[in-house]
Amino acid sequence: MVDVNEQIDGAVAQATKDFALVAEQSSREALVRARNCHLGKEAPLRLMQRTLGSLAPDERKATGSAIQAGLKVIEAQYAQVEAAVEAVELAGQLARETVDVTTDVTLHPRGALHPITALINRMCDVFVAMGWQIAEGPEAEAEWLNFDALNFTPDHPARFLSDTLFLDPPEAHRILRTHTSPVQARTLLTHDLPVYVVAPGKVYRADEYDATHLPVFHQIEGLAVDKGLGMADLKGTLDHLAKAMFGDEVVTRLRPHYFPFTEPSAEVDLRCFVCHGASVGDPAHPCRTCKSEGWIEWGGCGVVNPRVLQAAGIDTEVYSGFAFGMGVDRTVMFRNNASDLRDFVEGDIRFSRQLRGVAR
Ligand code: DAH
Repeated sequence: MVDVNEQIDGAVAQATKDFALVAEQSSREALVRARNCHLGKEAPLRLMQRTLGSLAPDERKATGSAIQAGLKVIEAQYAQVEAAVEAVELAGQLARETVDVTTDVTLHPRGALHPITALINRMCDVFVAMGWQIAEGPEAEAEWLNFDALNFTPDHPARFLSDTLFLDPPEAHRILRTHTSPVQARTLLTHDLPVYVVAPGKVYRADEYDATHLPVFHQIEGLAVDKGLGMADLKGTLDHLAKAMFGDEVVTRLRPHYFPFTEPSAEVDLRCFVCHGASVGDPAHPCRTCKSEGWIEWGGCGVVNPRVLQAAGIDTEVYSGFAFGMGVDRTVMFRNNASDLRDFVEGDIRFSRQLRGVAR
């Protein structure tokens, strides 16, 4: 019996020593090892339990409870050391995952709309406020809609390869639209009357790439078809847009012109923002902006040619309309005094940033 008690005490003492070491190392691995060693199936006290069967009944009872008592002590010590190891683990994890919310971080600059997109939105807003709708058409367009439906003759020079970008195969008669006007034809074919739409978008021409020309640029098209619309409605609408774009002092004029899809047709000019016309006939003070003409061209417009309406099956005895189309890029240039169109497409954010807020 003495022997047995010594064995039990020895096992407890060994466990105490090992647990102390584990606590010192504070290692999960060592903890598991120590647990297997002193509380696992092969632990000394467990092995002793297995021999109890061979003892006399009264001895068995006494030894059994002594072993139990020893195991209880070891379990209690284990619980303590386990708690200590876990506390250290948790502290380590918290330290690793700490986020210093006071750290000064350089935030990525907030993105913004491109000045042209911002102005398109703004121009559209002017019309949406009057109850107009926004219309869209594809940039890869049928030659028929870009030209024929708009009363361009088959030999009209605008169709030539030198102006128009044709898509392969040529027999498909598909092109990159040269203006937003085909959206007029699309709208007339798909909308019920009356129609009041604006259609902004990209257009393509086989143009040089220089300060005043881009092969890809933007237009905004307007089309109104209703009973009794005419030139005066057109002028009023354009003046309204011009004022919204350039302020109340802006002066516009319509200058007779020719477009196959409007009759009469005109170009709409803006009184030069720089010289206000003072450079006209004054060679001593030339104006670069209007080339001393006093006016700058903004877009084309007119009363919709009845042939265009008829092509869409509209009764021209009842309905008439007006249309206009202007360069958005030009509009941004005028508004913001930008002198080189290439700046708009070369993607230098310092340029766009200068216009931030201006085009809004
Ligand atoms: N599509 C013409 C161009 O690109 C501009 C234009 C002129 C549009 C007269 C119109 C219009 O809607 O009525 O030069």
